[in-house]
Amino acid sequence: MPHRTGFRRVFAPLLASLLVAFGTGVQAGEVEVLHYWTSGGEAKSLAELKGMMAQRGHGWKDFAVVGGGGQNAMDVLKARVLAGNPPAAANIKGPAIQEWAALNALTSLDAMASFDRWDEVLPKVVADQMKHKGRYVAVPVNVHRVNWLWANAEVLRQAGVNEAPRNFDEFFKAADKVRAAGLIALAHGGQDWQDFTTFESVVLGVGGAKFYDAALVKLDAQALGGDTMRRSLETFRRLRGYVDAASPGRDWNASTDLVIKGKAGFQFMGDWAKGEFLAAGQQPGKDFRCFPAPGTAEAFTYNVDSFAMFQLKAWEAQKAQGYLAYLLMGQDFQERFNLRKGSIPVRQNVSMDKFDECAKVSAQDFGKTAKAGTLVPSVAHGMALAPGQQALMRRLVSDFWNNPQMSVNDAQKQLLALAAGPQKSPQ
Ligand code: BGC
Repeated sequence: MPHRTGFRRVFAPLLASLLVAFGTGVQAGEVEVLHYWTSGGEAKSLAELKGMMAQRGHGWKDFAVVGGGGQNAMDVLKARVLAGNPPAAANIKGPAIQEWAALNALTSLDAMASFDRWDEVLPKVVADQMKHKGRYVAVPVNVHRVNWLWANAEVLRQAGVNEAPRNFDEFFKAADKVRAAGLIALAHGGQDWQDFTTFESVVLGVGGAKFYDAALVKLDAQALGGDTMRRSLETFRRLRGYVDAASPGRDWNASTDLVIKGKAGFQFMGDWAKGEFLAAGQQPGKDFRCFPAPGTAEAFTYNVDSFAMFQLKAWEAQKAQGYLAYLLMGQDFQERFNLRKGSIPVRQNVSMDKFDECAKVSAQDFGKTAKAGTLVPSVAHGMALAPGQQALMRRLVSDFWNNPQMSVNDAQKQLLALAAGPQKSPQ
């Protein structure tokens, strides 16, 4: 009966979640959740969610796929869905949400979204990404800022770096001082998504938000082939000279650990790195510092984690899934989770009182940059390009990082060829 199936798909999770939320004795179910949050700080954040599900008697089946940035997780997810056995929910972001929705694999969350007034409490730029053909198919849980530079406060003192580096010239001077103090200047993990995380901060710092948008989001040929991109690539290449020999292949959190332990001075990384500092018992301002990546104080590269809900057959599983969606958008969860994750709540009416200075700056800047037109999507973290094109860009930038034989000119030519290729994103 198509009508009944449609009704169930749209309303069952809502109904179940409300019944469970208000404790009317609906039996609990189990959710299987695909994620890649396996580092110390990430695991602590996720534990909040597991705990809140357990409070309502719901079981949690962990489907964790190791690998920062989530590429491995996405590969495993594809295999599971193709085999007809999707998890209840998966951490899927940006344009990838559209691809899954277009395959008709996701459950509509529209009934819950209108009941809970998601449109009123979410920034439009985020709400739009959560919708397919105008209907909610995913739930956002945070806003990560990607254009951060992390530093060990004691290392900076030892090295005599007294000011935040405001541009890349200042950064290189500071990095020289850290190196002269006998420490690793830049803790970088050489994996393609980490290379691109650093690269996009360089592009933003060298060229500004407008240029970033033209070059990396719109893949505009003039921007990719021009002088500002040349300077960005040169700056990016220069950073390579400041990393240690063990950088290739190293996980992001192992690099953060070098900063935490005072073996390295700096790391370019999104604010999930703050989750690691906090999990290690460190305090912002005292033990570690959060600086805007050089030259990017007036801009904000956003990266929103969200969960898409897959269509499930079993009624019990649908109930637990509905409750999960309801919980994820809740003020209580968004506060508890983001206090540990390093990000800020994406829901606009959550108090920032309990958050630290880095998060407060982030929340203010998110609003300010949205007004100023300098809020840009992170390309490294799947907010801007379709997954296929993003993968090609990441590989190219990584090749450039790893291969000193590739000239800046060659890299620009390849960027142009890629942008003109058949995978060009529709944006
Ligand atoms: C995700 C974060 C995650 C980080 C490292 C990013 O793409 O948005 O939630 O902590 O990758 O895995």
